[in-house]
Amino acid sequence: MTEERPADPADPADRADGTGSPSEVPRAAPGTSGHYGEDLFEPAHPREAERIDDAAVVYDPVTTGRLRALGAGPGQRCLEIGAGTGTVARWLLTEGGAAEVVAVDRDTSALAGLAASLDPGPAPPSGAAARLRVALADVTDPASLDSALGSDRFDLVHARFVLMHLPERRRVLAGLAARLAPGGLLLLGDAVDPAAGAASGGSTPSDPNPAPDSDPAAPSAYRRTMDAMWRALRATIGTDIGPVTRYPRFLHEEGLVGVGAELYCPPLVPGGPLAEFWRATWQRMRPALEERGGVDPTTVDEALAVLAAPATPSSPGPAELGPGMLLAWGRRP
Ligand SMILES: C[S@@+](CC[C@H](N)C(=O)[O-])C[C@H]1O[C@@H](n2cnc3c(N)ncnc32)[C@H](O)[C@@H]1O
Repeated sequence: MTEERPADPADPADRADGTGSPSEVPRAAPGTSGHYGEDLFEPAHPREAERIDDAAVVYDPVTTGRLRALGAGPGQRCLEIGAGTGTVARWLLTEGGAAEVVAVDRDTSALAGLAASLDPGPAPPSGAAARLRVALADVTDPASLDSALGSDRFDLVHARFVLMHLPERRRVLAGLAARLAPGGLLLLGDAVDPAAGAASGGSTPSDPNPAPDSDPAAPSAYRRTMDAMWRALRATIGTDIGPVTRYPRFLHEEGLVGVGAELYCPPLVPGGPLAEFWRATWQRMRPALEERGGVDPTTVDEALAVLAAPATPSSPGPAELGPGMLLAWGRRP
């Protein structure tokens, strides 16, 4: 089953013509044949783990709180998809009481030290490391996943901030649902941005570069940069947060029961971990942000400054609703 998304002629991502500076923009643009971890956000970047952890520290309590509320963890076989630096896998093993966690990623370098950090010597090992298996696999490739997991089924399958980056997300979601043992829980977390394109009533992305002072209600530099980021991500690697609010429906379509969803939008605190996450994200993808997102460098500089730690306690900081995370879940009958 594939996800339908009609082209939107008002969206530059649908009009990308590939005429940017070839030395500056990721090679996969235009179109959506680029890949997370290859064309953007390479795991070898010295600060990539730190960038992922900045988001994890904000969202982990929400994710783990929901896992607890749904009874996930104790004695269970768990599959963590796109495990990143392994913060959720760690929680499942140390606090969640999981019997086993298989942490899958298309690049497992950020998970290399996880097992050792779970059972550091010389204290008697807790056994958490022995319950962890790290598996290299591309979740978009069924053969790759089959080779890593065989025919294993799990009591919990969790993927956070992964499917949104995969154009094949609807098919991947079906594959994850099929990995559930009877009674097993699928929990998905992905980004939503309630204020995206707010200046135009939420129907179209904001104009990234409105004429100065032409409209007192013009979107802020932060808003224009964030909207540009979504456009650039989509044009470069196929990221799309549009379908995220439809995840509950997709879970129903996969025959799951007890489907539920919740939304969490954390505050944007200048200099805080989430603000640092967005700053690092914009800095890392800046060429694509400007070329594919269509935002000018001055606006990006202004937006970066707004999210930076305030120079003085009276610095204004952002007056914005930031993106949040939608959690959606369902259970195999
Ligand atoms: C934004 S990070 C999120 C990491 C982690 N889930 C978290 O929330 O902290 C996305 C993760 O998904 C992984 N990933 C991206 N595409 C993937 C694919 N096709 N197969 C497996 N993992 C993938 C990336 O390598 C990265 O670790």
